[in-house]
Amino acid sequence: MDNTKIHQLLEDKYERLGANSSTHLKGLLHAKEIDYWSYIQLDTLLSLQNPRTHFEDEEVFIIYHQITELTLKLMLNEIKQVVRNKVISQELLTSKLLRLNRYTQLLISSFSIMRDGMNYDDYNTFRSTLTPASGFQSAQFRYIEMYCTSLENLITDKSKISGNSTIEELMELQYWKSAGINPKTGEKTLTLKQFENKYQDDFIQFAKNKRANTINDLFQNIENPSKELVKQMRAFDFLYNIKWPIVHLQTGSHYLDSKGKKKTATGGSDWKKYLHPKYQRRVFFPSVWTKEELTNWADPCYFEEKDIV
Ligand code: HEM
Repeated sequence: MDNTKIHQLLEDKYERLGANSSTHLKGLLHAKEIDYWSYIQLDTLLSLQNPRTHFEDEEVFIIYHQITELTLKLMLNEIKQVVRNKVISQELLTSKLLRLNRYTQLLISSFSIMRDGMNYDDYNTFRSTLTPASGFQSAQFRYIEMYCTSLENLITDKSKISGNSTIEELMELQYWKSAGINPKTGEKTLTLKQFENKYQDDFIQFAKNKRANTINDLFQNIENPSKELVKQMRAFDFLYNIKWPIVHLQTGSHYLDSKGKKKTATGGSDWKKYLHPKYQRRVFFPSVWTKEELTNWADPCYFEEKDIV
């Protein structure tokens, strides 16, 4: 395209916007040229780590959490492109699931940075300054769940759901609320109270808007889904809801359950039970699994990764 044509197109563009093209073009004469560090806001990014102690490995802990939150943001970017459709083609959904699966594999394979990349004693010392903060308070993690499936599917004990349960009632029954109850007193922990104070209203509003418009709903409306699409749906459920939780639990056990002691986690949950996917039974897409697979959810003897991913 020659310069005259480009000039014409720019003038057309500003005219459409109702703006003065010459003012905009003159502005280009003075605009600063772009560079790598300002484009990706490198200085800001590298200033976002503020350890609470002098232990060097606390920086590993903070940065790896930040990397995970950024990865969850990348996943939400894909998910939003899916759920903005009222009807979706198999091809688009399959390609988005392939991306989601790649991101989840990244989370799984990199978790060893947490497990093996921090000094055991240092971690167990600096973590006491973090109570009651916990990864449990990750809002992006909850949004991914609510974008993927209905609130009903995120309730472990389905007998508690009635046909006319309100969103507020369903929210109170979400599987993750159990991690925020003090087993001795039955009261909500400070970790859960903080989380609810900050996000509960937003979660409820979000769930009201999103009702019946999740990835699972879009999938249900596809007639004769291809084998490849079903495979990628199963792979995502398996990777996100079984395999990632297992490596997370293994890391938890490494720091909190070795040397013969089970320690209290910063969020105060009954973590050994809570973090096991067998207990949570978080399944985004129940219809892609057989009854037997659902009964044996997350049983390592039953689920062969090579048959799923
Ligand atoms: C040394 C590393 C880690 C340990 C020991 C650990 C431990 C725990 C424990 C015990 C819980 C249960 C809640 C509680 O009582 O606090 C939990 C929940 C959680 N953690 Fe971690 N965690 C670690 C790293 C991470 C990282 C890097 C992330 C990334 C953001 C993360 C995200 C989460 C999430 C999302 C939950 C809630 C899970 C759910 O509801 O299924 N954790 N973690």
